[in-house]
Amino acid sequence: MKKLIDMIAEELMQAFEKNGYEGKYGMVTLSNRPDLCQYQCNGALAAAKLYKKAPVMIASEIVESVKDSRTFDKIEAIMPGFINITLTPAYIADYLNEMSHADQYGCEKTKNPKTIILDYGGPNIAKPLHVGHLRSAVIGESIKRISRYLGYKVIGDVHLGDWGLQMGLIITELKKRKPDLVYFDENYTGEYSREAPFTISELEEIYPAANEYSKTHPEYKEEAKNATYLLQNGNRGYAALWNHILNISVTDLKKNYDKLNISFDLWKKESDAQAYIPDMIAYLKENNYTRISEGALVVDVKEDTDTKEIPPCMILKSDGATLYNTTDLATMVERRKLFDPDAITYIVDKRQELYFETVFRCAKKTKLLDEKVRLTFLGFGTMNGKDGKPFKTREGGVMRLEDLIQSINDAVYDKIMENRQMSEEEARSIAGKVGLAALKYGDLSNQASKDYIFDMDRFISFEGNTGPYILYTIVRIKSILMKYRELAGKEPINTGRILPSDIPGEVSLMLEVSKFNEVIEFSFKENAPHKICQYIYDIANAFNRFYHENKIIAQEDKLKQQSWISLITLIQGILETCIDLLGFEAPDRM
Ligand code: ARG
Repeated sequence: MKKLIDMIAEELMQAFEKNGYEGKYGMVTLSNRPDLCQYQCNGALAAAKLYKKAPVMIASEIVESVKDSRTFDKIEAIMPGFINITLTPAYIADYLNEMSHADQYGCEKTKNPKTIILDYGGPNIAKPLHVGHLRSAVIGESIKRISRYLGYKVIGDVHLGDWGLQMGLIITELKKRKPDLVYFDENYTGEYSREAPFTISELEEIYPAANEYSKTHPEYKEEAKNATYLLQNGNRGYAALWNHILNISVTDLKKNYDKLNISFDLWKKESDAQAYIPDMIAYLKENNYTRISEGALVVDVKEDTDTKEIPPCMILKSDGATLYNTTDLATMVERRKLFDPDAITYIVDKRQELYFETVFRCAKKTKLLDEKVRLTFLGFGTMNGKDGKPFKTREGGVMRLEDLIQSINDAVYDKIMENRQMSEEEARSIAGKVGLAALKYGDLSNQASKDYIFDMDRFISFEGNTGPYILYTIVRIKSILMKYRELAGKEPINTGRILPSDIPGEVSLMLEVSKFNEVIEFSFKENAPHKICQYIYDIANAFNRFYHENKIIAQEDKLKQQSWISLITLIQGILETCIDLLGFEAPDRM
């Protein structure tokens, strides 16, 4: 379906052309004086300069040309040259009826379904999933869902960090604690057990301990570096340990992502790209893209137009070791080979922006990736505590994601139990859904690149711009529809015919709803789930106002009542679709 705003613009563009002006002046925007009109066109002001005419004269000509159109209830030229537009109630109702019957409420799938790889999540194995990884996963999941809704082929890759010093640290610490393990016996040639010699909780404790210890013990750090080197160069025992670490971590990560309603199509990891490195380096050297700088192998990516300092992209350190860059470039080679993507979007902490800039430039300059592949860095800001500093536990440590989710769910549970009697089981299940909505909406309602403050009390509130408020609105609609069905008894419910309305609150509600396809497309184009949050928040506000001003169930005019039922049925569908695109769902009651 066409966007409502574009349909209005088309009529005005034609009018501009008919009067001898360029059509582009017929662009329409939402009114910035909703008390006066619904939409406005400022084109006459812009055209005036070129055509050397008073803007208001142009505006009047346009208004005169469309005055018989059944689109406009009121259209007028206003000094100094605005065109104020109000649609007829029938025009709006028609549009909503068409939405009700269209596929995906009139939000069409793309005719050019490109393949997009989303690189999100990015946890590091053997380190507990912490809130720092929350944002990437939550934002990435939503972008994946939005892109799929529009018909794109999306491949979500978790891109595990499994290839750095952290592995050597864990191995070194294990060796210190359990030197007798067969993995450390160089003469051992037999099979290794399938059973890991540690649990996930041990593993989670081992890494921070090793990391801390290495900071004050250089010889220990050296040993860890050596262990990393041995692992990367085929030491059997270390490879077996690494496998255990990987398996245990992935099982745990999947469990955690499941709780967040987040899933990945691919569980690829940094180590998978290693096989592509030797050929890639040979290619870069052969084609003279590299040079040696202080012993390191680098590719220059500076451009004349740069206003800031752009460092070269380092491929090999002076000791021959590969870097994060090397892995990311090799991952591009791997992705090109396996999926031939049209675009790759990275959803990573914005502090890595410059890093990605250099890697992107390097990939393009050296033609590791085709010119046509669109690379996007979607950098997100930090989730801060109320003190404005990165979110921490009460003790000042890094908050584990699992604990964060648990504390939100507990808080919501208490809130639900405060107000009503419900079985423990039902309250827990509702708290799970509401808690997830609180957490995800709290995050997604902010523009991704901005930092935000995690404020539990605000996030779980049933009022204001929060996830629970949106759910509350959906639950309210569900309960009205249930009551209506009960009262209507066996009578068939005639849904789908929304009647024109002259009730201002209802008209505003309808206009909010009408923006669906525009909002979804925009949020895709701009990688901006927060636009969907804004949209459903506006609808929820408009709906609740309408609900308080009009008694739906007690309405005696049955035609009107049925129209309202059709309208709120549409709204329910749209709100539920939107929260699904954001990655959470509504309970039946709360
Ligand atoms: N593991 C990395 C981190 O914790 C994030 C990975 C982001 N993705 C990528 N292709 N570099 O910082």
